[in-house]
Amino acid sequence: MERPRLWCKSALFVLSLMVPLTQASEAPIINPKARFHPVYGTLGMVVTQEAIASQVGADILAEGGNAIDAAVASGFALAVTLPRAGNLAGGGFMVIHLAKEDRTIALDYREMAPAESHREMFLDEAGDVDKRAARYSIKSSGVPGTVAGLLHAHKSYGVLNIEKVLSPAIKLARDGFEVSLDLSSSLSSRYERLSSNVASRRYFFKPNGESYQPGELFIQKDLAQTLERISEYGRAGFYEGKTAKLIVDEMKNLGGLITLDDLRDYRVVTREPVCGDFHGNTVCAMPPPSSGGVHLIQMLNILEGWDLRSLGHNSAAYIHRLAEAMRRAYADRSIYLGDPDFYRVPIDNITDKNYASALRSGINLVKATPSVDVQSGLDIDPDTLQIEKTFSDNESSETTHFSTWDQWGNVVSNTTTLNFSYGNGISIPGAGFLMNNEMDDFSAKPGTPNAFGLLGGVANAIEPGKRPLSSMTPSIVFDKASSPLLVTGSPGGSTIITTVLQTILNVLVFDMGIAEGASVPRVHHQWFPDRLLLESGISRDTVNLLSQMGHNIGEADYVLGDTQSIQRGPKNSLFGASDPRRPGAAAVAQ
Ligand code: DON
Repeated sequence: MERPRLWCKSALFVLSLMVPLTQASEAPIINPKARFHPVYGTLGMVVTQEAIASQVGADILAEGGNAIDAAVASGFALAVTLPRAGNLAGGGFMVIHLAKEDRTIALDYREMAPAESHREMFLDEAGDVDKRAARYSIKSSGVPGTVAGLLHAHKSYGVLNIEKVLSPAIKLARDGFEVSLDLSSSLSSRYERLSSNVASRRYFFKPNGESYQPGELFIQKDLAQTLERISEYGRAGFYEGKTAKLIVDEMKNLGGLITLDDLRDYRVVTREPVCGDFHGNTVCAMPPPSSGGVHLIQMLNILEGWDLRSLGHNSAAYIHRLAEAMRRAYADRSIYLGDPDFYRVPIDNITDKNYASALRSGINLVKATPSVDVQSGLDIDPDTLQIEKTFSDNESSETTHFSTWDQWGNVVSNTTTLNFSYGNGISIPGAGFLMNNEMDDFSAKPGTPNAFGLLGGVANAIEPGKRPLSSMTPSIVFDKASSPLLVTGSPGGSTIITTVLQTILNVLVFDMGIAEGASVPRVHHQWFPDRLLLESGISRDTVNLLSQMGHNIGEADYVLGDTQSIQRGPKNSLFGASDPRRPGAAAVAQ
Protein backbone atom coordinates (compact mmCIF):
# COMPACT_ATOMS: atom_id res chain seq x y z
CA MET A 1 0.00 0.00 0.00
CA GLU A 2 1.22 3.47 -0.80
CA ARG A 3 2.40 5.38 2.20
CA PRO A 4 0.93 8.86 2.56
CA ARG A 5 3.57 11.46 1.76
CA LEU A 6 4.23 14.98 2.83
CA TRP A 7 3.95 16.67 -0.48
CA CYS A 8 4.04 20.40 -0.87
CA LYS A 9 3.87 22.34 -4.07
CA SER A 10 5.97 25.21 -2.95
CA ALA A 11 8.09 26.51 -0.16
CA LEU A 12 5.39 29.06 0.64
CA PHE A 13 3.05 26.19 1.24
CA VAL A 14 5.68 24.66 3.49
CA LEU A 15 5.57 27.79 5.62
CA SER A 16 1.82 27.48 5.96
CA LEU A 17 2.06 23.88 7.19
CA MET A 18 1.45 24.57 10.83
CA VAL A 19 0.31 21.04 11.66
CA PRO A 20 2.52 18.03 10.95
CA LEU A 21 0.67 15.73 8.56
CA THR A 22 1.70 12.46 10.18
CA GLN A 23 1.83 11.26 13.73
CA ALA A 24 1.08 14.70 15.13
CA SER A 25 1.59 13.66 18.72
CA GLU A 26 5.02 12.12 18.05
CA ALA A 27 6.40 14.69 15.65
CA PRO A 28 9.62 16.02 17.11
CA ILE A 29 9.96 19.77 17.04
CA ILE A 30 13.48 21.06 16.47
CA ASN A 31 12.94 24.53 17.76
CA PRO A 32 9.73 25.19 19.65
CA LYS A 33 10.11 28.91 19.04
CA ALA A 34 10.55 28.54 15.29
CA ARG A 35 8.23 30.62 13.16
CA PHE A 36 8.99 28.53 10.09
CA HIS A 37 8.06 24.89 9.77
CA PRO A 38 9.98 22.41 7.63
CA VAL A 39 8.65 19.24 6.02
CA TYR A 40 9.05 16.31 8.37
CA GLY A 41 9.85 12.66 7.65
CA THR A 42 11.58 9.66 9.10
CA LEU A 43 12.36 7.36 6.15
CA GLY A 44 14.13 9.72 3.81
CA MET A 45 13.85 13.10 2.16
CA VAL A 46 14.40 14.70 -1.23
CA VAL A 47 14.60 18.48 -1.61
CA THR A 48 15.00 20.06 -5.04
CA GLN A 49 14.16 23.31 -6.76
CA GLU A 50 11.35 21.74 -8.79
CA ALA A 51 8.44 19.89 -7.21
CA ILE A 52 8.02 17.11 -9.79
CA ALA A 53 11.72 16.26 -9.60
CA SER A 54 11.54 16.09 -5.81
CA GLN A 55 8.63 13.66 -6.05
CA VAL A 56 10.60 11.54 -8.54
CA GLY A 57 13.43 11.19 -6.01
CA ALA A 58 11.06 10.40 -3.14
CA ASP A 59 9.34 7.72 -5.27
CA ILE A 60 12.73 6.13 -5.95
CA LEU A 61 13.36 6.01 -2.18
CA ALA A 62 9.94 4.37 -1.76
CA GLU A 63 10.94 1.71 -4.30
CA GLY A 64 13.95 0.74 -2.19
CA GLY A 65 16.48 3.08 -3.75
CA ASN A 66 19.09 4.78 -1.64
CA ALA A 67 19.98 8.47 -1.45
CA ILE A 68 22.29 8.11 -4.46
CA ASP A 69 19.57 6.51 -6.62
CA ALA A 70 17.18 9.28 -5.56
CA ALA A 71 19.72 11.98 -6.38
CA VAL A 72 20.44 10.51 -9.81
CA ALA A 73 16.72 10.11 -10.59
CA SER A 74 15.99 13.68 -9.48
CA GLY A 75 19.04 14.95 -11.37
CA PHE A 76 17.84 13.46 -14.65
CA ALA A 77 14.27 14.61 -13.95
CA LEU A 78 15.48 18.19 -13.41
CA ALA A 79 17.02 18.08 -16.89
CA VAL A 80 13.42 17.70 -18.12
CA THR A 81 11.38 19.81 -15.70
CA LEU A 82 13.82 22.63 -14.87
CA PRO A 83 15.56 23.23 -18.21
CA ARG A 84 17.08 26.54 -17.11
CA ALA A 85 19.42 24.77 -14.68
CA GLY A 86 18.80 21.02 -14.63
CA ASN A 87 20.81 19.63 -17.51
CA LEU A 88 22.43 16.85 -19.51
CA ALA A 89 25.11 19.05 -21.10
CA GLY A 90 26.32 20.98 -18.05
CA GLY A 91 28.34 19.86 -15.08
CA GLY A 92 28.36 19.78 -11.32
CA PHE A 93 29.57 18.39 -8.06
CA MET A 94 28.19 15.69 -5.79
CA VAL A 95 29.29 15.26 -2.17
CA ILE A 96 28.19 11.85 -0.89
CA HIS A 97 28.23 10.48 2.64
CA LEU A 98 28.24 6.68 2.59
CA ALA A 99 26.82 5.58 5.93
CA LYS A 100 28.00 1.98 5.99
CA GLU A 101 31.61 2.86 5.25
CA ASP A 102 31.39 6.10 7.25
CA ARG A 103 33.11 7.80 4.33
CA THR A 104 32.45 11.07 2.54
CA ILE A 105 33.56 11.59 -1.04
CA ALA A 106 33.33 14.38 -3.60
CA LEU A 107 32.52 13.61 -7.23
CA ASP A 108 33.77 16.18 -9.70
CA TYR A 109 31.79 16.16 -12.93
CA ARG A 110 32.63 19.72 -13.89
CA GLU A 111 32.93 20.55 -17.60
CA MET A 112 36.41 20.38 -19.17
CA ALA A 113 37.90 22.83 -21.66
CA PRO A 114 38.04 21.21 -25.14
CA ALA A 115 41.47 20.15 -26.48
CA GLU A 116 41.40 22.99 -29.00
CA SER A 117 40.78 25.69 -26.40
CA HIS A 118 43.56 28.09 -25.47
CA ARG A 119 44.34 30.85 -23.01
CA GLU A 120 43.47 33.77 -25.28
CA MET A 121 40.47 32.31 -27.05
CA PHE A 122 38.04 34.97 -25.78
CA LEU A 123 40.26 38.00 -26.43
CA ASP A 124 39.44 40.29 -29.33
CA GLU A 125 41.95 42.04 -31.58
CA ALA A 126 42.44 44.80 -29.02
CA GLY A 127 43.21 42.18 -26.36
CA ASP A 128 39.94 42.77 -24.50
CA VAL A 129 37.55 40.04 -23.42
CA ASP A 130 34.85 39.44 -26.02
CA LYS A 131 32.01 38.87 -23.56
CA ARG A 132 29.56 37.77 -26.22
CA ALA A 133 31.92 34.99 -27.36
CA ALA A 134 32.70 33.93 -23.76
CA ARG A 135 29.06 33.80 -22.70
CA TYR A 136 26.76 33.26 -25.66
CA SER A 137 28.70 31.64 -28.51
CA ILE A 138 29.05 27.91 -29.05
CA LYS A 139 32.70 28.30 -27.95
CA SER A 140 31.44 29.14 -24.45
CA SER A 141 30.58 25.45 -23.95
CA GLY A 142 32.88 23.16 -22.00
CA VAL A 143 32.80 19.38 -22.53
CA PRO A 144 29.69 18.31 -20.58
CA GLY A 145 30.11 16.25 -17.41
CA THR A 146 26.61 15.73 -16.05
CA VAL A 147 25.68 12.43 -17.70
CA ALA A 148 29.04 10.87 -16.83
CA GLY A 149 28.78 12.19 -13.27
CA LEU A 150 25.26 10.95 -12.57
CA LEU A 151 25.94 7.55 -14.15
CA HIS A 152 29.20 7.20 -12.24
CA ALA A 153 27.45 7.98 -8.94
CA HIS A 154 24.73 5.49 -9.71
CA LYS A 155 27.07 2.71 -10.85
CA SER A 156 29.40 3.14 -7.86
CA TYR A 157 26.92 3.71 -5.05
CA GLY A 158 23.32 3.13 -6.22
CA VAL A 159 21.30 -0.03 -5.57
CA LEU A 160 18.47 0.06 -8.14
CA ASN A 161 19.04 -0.63 -11.83
CA ILE A 162 19.64 2.35 -14.09
CA GLU A 163 16.53 1.72 -16.22
CA LYS A 164 14.37 2.19 -13.14
CA VAL A 165 16.25 5.31 -12.04
CA LEU A 166 16.03 6.90 -15.49
CA SER A 167 12.47 5.91 -16.35
CA PRO A 168 10.68 8.84 -14.58
CA ALA A 169 12.78 11.37 -16.54
CA ILE A 170 12.13 9.55 -19.81
CA LYS A 171 8.41 9.45 -19.12
CA LEU A 172 8.30 13.15 -18.20
CA ALA A 173 10.07 14.07 -21.44
CA ARG A 174 8.14 11.65 -23.68
CA ASP A 175 4.61 12.10 -22.29
CA GLY A 176 5.08 15.65 -21.08
CA PHE A 177 4.20 17.38 -17.84
CA GLU A 178 2.09 20.35 -16.88
CA VAL A 179 3.89 23.64 -17.27
CA SER A 180 4.11 25.51 -13.95
CA LEU A 181 3.76 29.26 -13.59
CA ASP A 182 7.48 29.32 -12.76
CA LEU A 183 8.52 27.47 -15.95
CA SER A 184 6.16 29.49 -18.11
CA SER A 185 7.43 32.84 -16.83
CA SER A 186 11.07 31.73 -16.85
CA LEU A 187 10.87 30.65 -20.51
CA SER A 188 9.03 33.86 -21.48
CA SER A 189 11.68 35.96 -19.74
CA ARG A 190 14.39 34.34 -21.89
CA TYR A 191 12.39 34.45 -25.13
CA GLU A 192 14.84 36.65 -26.96
CA ARG A 193 17.94 34.56 -26.30
CA LEU A 194 16.27 31.19 -26.71
CA SER A 195 14.34 32.07 -29.84
CA SER A 196 17.48 33.35 -31.57
CA ASN A 197 18.64 29.72 -31.77
CA VAL A 198 16.50 27.70 -34.18
CA ALA A 199 16.60 24.48 -32.15
CA SER A 200 15.91 26.20 -28.81
CA ARG A 201 12.99 28.06 -30.34
CA ARG A 202 11.56 24.74 -31.54
CA TYR A 203 12.15 22.98 -28.22
CA PHE A 204 11.00 25.63 -25.77
CA PHE A 205 8.20 27.49 -27.57
CA LYS A 206 5.08 26.46 -29.42
CA PRO A 207 5.22 26.01 -33.21
CA ASN A 208 3.70 29.50 -33.62
CA GLY A 209 6.46 30.93 -31.40
CA GLU A 210 4.20 31.57 -28.41
CA SER A 211 5.18 30.72 -24.85
CA TYR A 212 3.74 27.72 -23.03
CA GLN A 213 1.10 28.78 -20.53
CA PRO A 214 0.71 27.37 -17.00
CA GLY A 215 -1.23 24.10 -17.10
CA GLU A 216 -0.32 23.27 -20.70
CA LEU A 217 1.49 20.03 -21.55
CA PHE A 218 5.21 20.34 -22.36
CA ILE A 219 6.56 17.40 -24.36
CA GLN A 220 10.25 16.96 -25.27
CA LYS A 221 10.47 14.04 -27.70
CA ASP A 222 14.12 14.45 -28.78
CA LEU A 223 15.20 14.77 -25.16
CA ALA A 224 13.24 11.59 -24.33
CA GLN A 225 15.14 9.73 -27.05
CA THR A 226 18.48 10.97 -25.76
CA LEU A 227 17.54 9.79 -22.27
CA GLU A 228 16.48 6.44 -23.73
CA ARG A 229 19.89 6.07 -25.38
CA ILE A 230 21.54 6.80 -22.02
CA SER A 231 19.30 4.23 -20.36
CA GLU A 232 20.19 1.63 -22.99
CA TYR A 233 23.90 2.29 -23.61
CA GLY A 234 24.95 4.05 -20.42
CA ARG A 235 27.72 6.60 -20.83
CA ALA A 236 28.14 5.67 -24.50
CA GLY A 237 24.53 6.76 -25.08
CA PHE A 238 25.71 10.34 -24.63
CA TYR A 239 29.48 10.48 -25.16
CA GLU A 240 29.53 8.21 -28.22
CA GLY A 241 27.19 7.16 -31.01
CA LYS A 242 24.22 9.23 -32.11
CA THR A 243 24.15 11.81 -29.30
CA ALA A 244 27.88 12.54 -29.60
CA LYS A 245 27.53 12.85 -33.36
CA LEU A 246 24.64 15.32 -32.99
CA ILE A 247 26.74 17.43 -30.59
CA VAL A 248 29.79 17.43 -32.84
CA ASP A 249 27.71 18.16 -35.97
CA GLU A 250 26.36 21.28 -34.26
CA MET A 251 29.88 22.25 -33.16
CA LYS A 252 30.96 22.09 -36.81
CA ASN A 253 27.87 23.98 -37.88
CA LEU A 254 28.34 26.87 -35.43
CA GLY A 255 32.14 26.90 -35.10
CA GLY A 256 32.39 25.15 -31.73
CA LEU A 257 35.42 23.30 -30.40
CA ILE A 258 34.10 20.08 -28.85
CA THR A 259 35.17 16.96 -30.79
CA LEU A 260 34.30 13.27 -30.58
CA ASP A 261 37.64 12.74 -28.82
CA ASP A 262 36.81 15.41 -26.21
CA LEU A 263 33.52 13.65 -25.48
CA ARG A 264 35.07 10.19 -25.32
CA ASP A 265 37.87 11.44 -23.05
CA TYR A 266 35.62 13.19 -20.52
CA ARG A 267 36.29 11.81 -17.05
CA VAL A 268 34.67 12.07 -13.65
CA VAL A 269 37.13 12.56 -10.79
CA THR A 270 36.60 11.35 -7.24
CA ARG A 271 38.18 13.83 -4.85
CA GLU A 272 38.62 14.19 -1.10
CA PRO A 273 36.15 16.74 0.23
CA VAL A 274 37.57 19.76 2.06
CA CYS A 275 36.61 19.39 5.72
CA GLY A 276 37.06 21.66 8.70
CA ASP A 277 36.14 21.77 12.34
CA PHE A 278 33.76 24.46 13.57
CA HIS A 279 33.13 24.37 17.33
CA GLY A 280 33.35 20.57 17.31
CA ASN A 281 31.14 20.07 14.25
CA THR A 282 32.76 18.93 11.00
CA VAL A 283 31.86 20.73 7.80
CA CYS A 284 32.70 18.93 4.52
CA ALA A 285 32.26 20.54 1.12
CA MET A 286 33.47 20.48 -2.48
CA PRO A 287 37.23 20.90 -3.02
CA PRO A 288 38.83 22.52 -6.11
CA PRO A 289 37.98 22.94 -8.95
CA SER A 290 35.33 24.49 -6.76
CA SER A 291 36.41 27.37 -4.57
CA GLY A 292 33.37 26.66 -2.39
CA GLY A 293 34.71 24.24 0.20
CA VAL A 294 38.08 25.96 0.68
CA HIS A 295 36.58 29.40 1.34
CA LEU A 296 33.64 28.07 3.34
CA ILE A 297 36.13 26.48 5.76
CA GLN A 298 38.37 29.55 5.68
CA MET A 299 35.49 31.89 6.58
CA LEU A 300 34.24 29.55 9.32
CA ASN A 301 37.78 29.48 10.75
CA ILE A 302 37.92 33.27 10.84
CA LEU A 303 34.45 33.57 12.37
CA GLU A 304 35.03 30.82 14.95
CA GLY A 305 37.19 33.20 16.97
CA TRP A 306 34.27 35.44 17.91
CA ASP A 307 31.20 34.77 20.02
CA LEU A 308 28.80 35.37 17.14
CA ARG A 309 25.74 34.26 19.05
CA SER A 310 26.16 37.00 21.62
CA LEU A 311 26.36 39.60 18.82
CA GLY A 312 22.87 38.64 17.65
CA HIS A 313 21.77 37.40 14.25
CA ASN A 314 22.05 40.05 11.51
CA SER A 315 23.16 42.73 13.95
CA ALA A 316 25.56 45.29 12.47
CA ALA A 317 28.41 43.79 14.53
CA TYR A 318 27.68 40.32 13.12
CA ILE A 319 27.25 41.43 9.50
CA HIS A 320 30.46 43.48 9.73
CA ARG A 321 32.43 40.39 10.80
CA LEU A 322 30.82 38.32 8.04
CA ALA A 323 31.65 40.95 5.42
CA GLU A 324 35.28 41.28 6.51
CA ALA A 325 35.78 37.51 6.53
CA MET A 326 34.16 37.25 3.08
CA ARG A 327 36.28 40.08 1.68
CA ARG A 328 39.49 38.33 2.74
CA ALA A 329 38.44 34.90 1.47
CA TYR A 330 37.51 36.24 -1.99
CA ALA A 331 40.87 38.05 -2.18
CA ASP A 332 42.57 34.64 -1.86
CA ARG A 333 40.11 33.11 -4.30
CA SER A 334 41.07 35.45 -7.10
CA ILE A 335 44.74 34.47 -6.86
CA TYR A 336 45.08 30.89 -5.69
CA LEU A 337 42.02 28.94 -6.82
CA GLY A 338 41.85 26.84 -9.97
CA ASP A 339 41.71 23.25 -11.23
CA PRO A 340 43.96 21.20 -8.90
CA ASP A 341 45.02 18.99 -11.81
CA PHE A 342 46.72 22.04 -13.34
CA TYR A 343 47.52 24.19 -10.35
CA ARG A 344 48.72 23.33 -6.84
CA VAL A 345 45.95 25.09 -4.92
CA PRO A 346 47.34 25.81 -1.42
CA ILE A 347 44.30 24.27 0.27
CA ASP A 348 46.07 23.51 3.54
CA ASN A 349 47.44 27.04 3.83
CA ILE A 350 44.09 28.70 3.13
CA THR A 351 42.15 26.48 5.52
CA ASP A 352 44.77 26.63 8.27
CA LYS A 353 43.43 27.83 11.65
CA ASN A 354 46.58 29.90 12.29
CA TYR A 355 46.15 31.68 8.98
CA ALA A 356 42.53 32.40 9.97
CA SER A 357 43.73 33.84 13.30
CA ALA A 358 46.16 36.10 11.47
CA LEU A 359 43.41 37.32 9.14
CA ARG A 360 41.04 37.80 12.09
CA SER A 361 43.54 39.89 13.97
CA GLY A 362 43.82 42.17 10.93
CA ILE A 363 40.09 42.94 11.03
CA ASN A 364 39.12 46.26 12.59
CA LEU A 365 35.96 45.55 14.58
CA VAL A 366 34.44 48.98 14.12
CA LYS A 367 35.63 49.96 10.67
CA ALA A 368 35.36 48.38 7.21
CA THR A 369 38.68 47.77 5.43
CA PRO A 370 38.44 49.08 1.87
CA SER A 371 39.01 46.18 -0.54
CA VAL A 372 41.88 48.05 -2.22
CA ASP A 373 43.72 47.68 1.10
CA VAL A 374 43.05 43.93 1.33
CA GLN A 375 45.41 41.57 -0.46
CA SER A 376 45.86 37.87 0.10
CA GLY A 377 47.52 37.19 3.44
CA LEU A 378 49.46 34.26 1.96
CA ASP A 379 53.06 34.81 1.01
CA ILE A 380 53.18 32.35 -1.89
CA ASP A 381 54.09 33.39 -5.43
CA PRO A 382 51.10 32.22 -7.48
CA ASP A 383 53.28 31.56 -10.54
CA THR A 384 55.19 28.85 -8.68
CA LEU A 385 52.06 26.75 -8.23
CA GLN A 386 51.47 25.90 -11.88
CA ILE A 387 51.73 22.25 -12.83
CA GLU A 388 53.14 21.39 -16.24
CA LYS A 389 50.37 19.38 -17.78
CA THR A 390 49.35 18.63 -21.30
CA PHE A 391 45.95 17.56 -22.43
CA SER A 392 47.15 14.10 -23.49
CA ASP A 393 48.03 13.33 -19.85
CA ASN A 394 44.43 13.61 -18.90
CA GLU A 395 42.28 10.69 -18.96
CA SER A 396 21.14 34.36 -13.57
CA SER A 397 22.07 33.02 -14.06
CA GLU A 398 21.14 29.52 -13.05
CA THR A 399 22.33 26.58 -11.19
CA THR A 400 20.38 24.21 -9.00
CA HIS A 401 21.05 22.34 -5.82
CA PHE A 402 19.37 19.22 -4.48
CA SER A 403 19.77 17.23 -1.30
CA THR A 404 18.73 13.65 -0.55
CA TRP A 405 18.87 11.52 2.61
CA ASP A 406 17.81 7.90 2.98
CA GLN A 407 16.70 5.70 5.86
CA TRP A 408 20.17 4.13 6.10
CA GLY A 409 21.83 7.48 6.69
CA ASN A 410 23.38 7.96 3.23
CA VAL A 411 23.33 11.62 2.27
CA VAL A 412 23.83 13.40 -1.06
CA SER A 413 24.53 17.08 -1.63
CA ASN A 414 24.54 17.95 -5.33
CA THR A 415 24.85 21.24 -7.19
CA THR A 416 24.66 21.30 -10.99
CA THR A 417 24.61 24.05 -13.59
CA LEU A 418 24.64 25.21 -17.20
CA ASN A 419 26.18 28.42 -15.77
CA PHE A 420 23.64 31.01 -17.02
CA SER A 421 19.94 30.42 -17.07
CA TYR A 422 19.49 28.09 -20.10
CA GLY A 423 23.30 28.10 -20.56
CA ASN A 424 24.33 29.80 -23.79
CA GLY A 425 20.80 29.28 -25.15
CA ILE A 426 22.05 26.90 -27.85
CA SER A 427 20.26 23.55 -28.15
CA ILE A 428 21.62 20.54 -30.00
CA PRO A 429 19.20 19.82 -32.88
CA GLY A 430 17.86 16.27 -32.71
CA ALA A 431 19.16 15.74 -29.15
CA GLY A 432 16.79 18.06 -27.30
CA PHE A 433 19.11 19.65 -24.72
CA LEU A 434 20.82 22.97 -24.10
CA MET A 435 24.58 23.52 -23.97
CA ASN A 436 26.42 25.10 -21.04
CA ASN A 437 28.42 28.34 -21.15
CA GLU A 438 30.77 27.30 -18.38
CA MET A 439 33.91 28.51 -20.22
CA ASP A 440 33.05 32.00 -18.86
CA ASP A 441 33.94 30.73 -15.39
CA PHE A 442 37.57 30.73 -16.47
CA SER A 443 39.52 33.94 -16.14
CA ALA A 444 39.65 35.01 -19.81
CA LYS A 445 42.06 37.83 -18.92
CA PRO A 446 43.70 38.61 -15.57
CA GLY A 447 42.01 41.57 -13.91
CA THR A 448 38.86 41.39 -16.06
CA PRO A 449 35.88 40.09 -14.09
CA ASN A 450 33.68 37.29 -15.38
CA ALA A 451 29.87 37.47 -15.47
CA PHE A 452 29.70 37.18 -11.67
CA GLY A 453 32.22 39.99 -11.16
CA LEU A 454 34.84 37.45 -10.09
CA LEU A 455 38.51 38.07 -10.78
CA GLY A 456 41.15 35.48 -11.53
CA GLY A 457 44.64 34.99 -12.83
CA VAL A 458 47.02 32.26 -13.85
CA ALA A 459 45.43 29.67 -11.52
CA ASN A 460 42.18 29.87 -13.47
CA ALA A 461 43.47 30.62 -16.97
CA ILE A 462 42.03 28.59 -19.86
CA GLU A 463 43.99 25.45 -20.75
CA PRO A 464 42.93 22.40 -22.75
CA GLY A 465 41.43 19.72 -20.50
CA LYS A 466 41.20 22.08 -17.52
CA ARG A 467 38.05 22.63 -15.44
CA PRO A 468 36.88 26.21 -14.87
CA LEU A 469 36.87 27.40 -11.27
CA SER A 470 33.44 27.18 -9.65
CA SER A 471 31.73 28.59 -6.58
CA MET A 472 29.31 25.69 -6.20
CA THR A 473 29.40 24.51 -2.59
CA PRO A 474 27.49 21.28 -1.99
CA SER A 475 28.07 20.65 1.72
CA ILE A 476 27.40 18.18 4.51
CA VAL A 477 27.74 19.11 8.20
CA PHE A 478 28.44 16.43 10.81
CA ASP A 479 27.67 16.65 14.51
CA LYS A 480 30.15 16.11 17.33
CA ALA A 481 29.59 12.35 17.09
CA SER A 482 30.39 12.49 13.33
CA SER A 483 26.83 11.76 12.19
CA PRO A 484 25.37 13.83 9.35
CA LEU A 485 23.41 16.77 10.76
CA LEU A 486 22.74 19.05 7.82
CA VAL A 487 22.99 18.88 4.05
CA THR A 488 22.73 22.05 2.01
CA GLY A 489 23.80 23.94 -1.09
CA SER A 490 22.63 26.68 -3.42
CA PRO A 491 22.79 28.31 -6.83
CA GLY A 492 23.77 31.97 -7.14
CA GLY A 493 27.17 32.26 -8.85
CA SER A 494 29.62 34.10 -6.63
CA THR A 495 27.00 34.37 -3.85
CA ILE A 496 26.80 30.58 -3.41
CA ILE A 497 29.66 30.30 -0.90
CA THR A 498 28.37 33.08 1.33
CA THR A 499 24.81 31.70 1.13
CA VAL A 500 25.95 28.28 2.30
CA LEU A 501 28.11 29.88 5.01
CA GLN A 502 25.15 31.78 6.48
CA THR A 503 22.84 28.77 6.27
CA ILE A 504 25.33 26.72 8.29
CA LEU A 505 25.87 29.53 10.82
CA ASN A 506 22.10 29.97 11.20
CA VAL A 507 21.82 26.33 12.27
CA LEU A 508 25.06 25.82 14.22
CA VAL A 509 25.40 29.20 15.91
CA PHE A 510 21.93 30.66 16.06
CA ASP A 511 20.16 27.37 16.67
CA MET A 512 17.60 27.90 13.93
CA GLY A 513 15.59 25.09 12.44
CA ILE A 514 16.40 24.64 8.76
CA ALA A 515 13.23 26.31 7.44
CA GLU A 516 14.02 29.45 9.40
CA GLY A 517 17.72 29.18 8.61
CA ALA A 518 16.88 29.08 4.90
CA SER A 519 14.51 32.02 5.03
CA VAL A 520 16.12 34.81 7.04
CA PRO A 521 17.84 37.63 5.08
CA ARG A 522 21.39 37.13 3.81
CA VAL A 523 24.30 39.37 2.96
CA HIS A 524 27.21 39.06 0.52
CA HIS A 525 30.65 40.53 -0.08
CA GLN A 526 33.18 39.31 -2.66
CA TRP A 527 36.14 41.69 -2.25
CA PHE A 528 35.55 43.29 -5.65
CA PRO A 529 33.33 45.05 -6.41
CA ASP A 530 33.77 46.59 -2.94
CA ARG A 531 30.10 46.45 -2.05
CA LEU A 532 28.20 44.83 0.78
CA LEU A 533 25.01 43.39 -0.68
CA LEU A 534 22.06 43.15 1.68
CA GLU A 535 18.77 41.41 1.06
CA SER A 536 15.63 43.19 2.13
CA GLY A 537 14.66 42.54 5.73
CA ILE A 538 17.78 43.98 7.39
CA SER A 539 16.60 46.86 9.58
CA ARG A 540 17.26 50.45 8.52
CA ASP A 541 19.22 51.27 11.68
CA THR A 542 21.46 48.23 11.09
CA VAL A 543 22.08 49.42 7.53
CA ASN A 544 22.90 52.89 8.87
CA LEU A 545 25.39 51.45 11.36
CA LEU A 546 27.10 49.42 8.63
CA SER A 547 27.28 52.50 6.47
CA GLN A 548 28.83 54.48 9.33
CA MET A 549 31.45 51.74 9.67
CA GLY A 550 32.46 52.46 6.09
CA HIS A 551 30.71 49.71 4.15
CA ASN A 552 29.48 50.51 0.66
CA ILE A 553 25.97 49.21 0.92
CA GLY A 554 24.22 47.73 -2.08
CA GLU A 555 20.67 46.58 -1.52
CA ALA A 556 20.44 43.43 -3.61
CA ASP A 557 17.79 43.78 -6.29
CA TYR A 558 17.90 40.01 -6.64
CA VAL A 559 17.81 37.29 -4.01
CA LEU A 560 21.01 35.83 -2.63
CA GLY A 561 21.00 32.10 -3.32
CA ASP A 562 18.28 29.48 -3.13
CA THR A 563 19.08 26.66 -0.72
CA GLN A 564 17.61 23.15 -0.72
CA SER A 565 18.43 21.56 2.62
CA ILE A 566 17.77 18.71 5.03
CA GLN A 567 18.46 18.76 8.76
CA ARG A 568 18.47 15.79 11.10
CA GLY A 569 16.34 16.25 14.18
CA PRO A 570 15.81 14.15 17.31
CA LYS A 571 15.47 10.37 16.93
CA ASN A 572 16.82 10.47 13.36
CA SER A 573 13.86 12.48 12.14
CA LEU A 574 14.49 14.54 9.02
CA PHE A 575 13.40 18.10 8.34
CA GLY A 576 13.50 19.36 4.76
CA ALA A 577 13.20 22.94 3.62
CA SER A 578 13.24 24.60 0.24
CA ASP A 579 14.34 28.19 0.31
CA PRO A 580 11.27 30.43 -0.08
CA ARG A 581 13.18 32.83 -2.35
CA ARG A 582 12.22 31.11 -5.59
CA PRO A 583 8.91 29.44 -6.42
CA GLY A 584 8.28 25.87 -7.49
CA ALA A 585 10.62 24.01 -5.13
CA ALA A 586 9.59 21.22 -2.77
CA ALA A 587 10.81 19.09 0.07
CA VAL A 588 9.22 15.63 -0.19
CA ALA A 589 9.45 13.22 2.71
CA GLN A 590 9.37 9.50 2.18
O1 DON B 1 30.15 27.17 -11.16
C1 DON B 1 29.86 28.30 -10.85
O2 DON B 1 30.28 28.86 -9.86
C2 DON B 1 28.84 29.06 -11.70
N1 DON B 1 28.89 28.54 -13.04
C3 DON B 1 27.49 28.92 -11.09
C4 DON B 1 26.46 29.71 -11.82
C5 DON B 1 25.27 29.97 -10.99
O3 DON B 1 25.18 29.60 -9.85
C6 DON B 1 24.23 30.77 -11.61
N2 DON B 1 23.00 30.66 -10.85
N3 DON B 1 22.31 31.14 -10.21
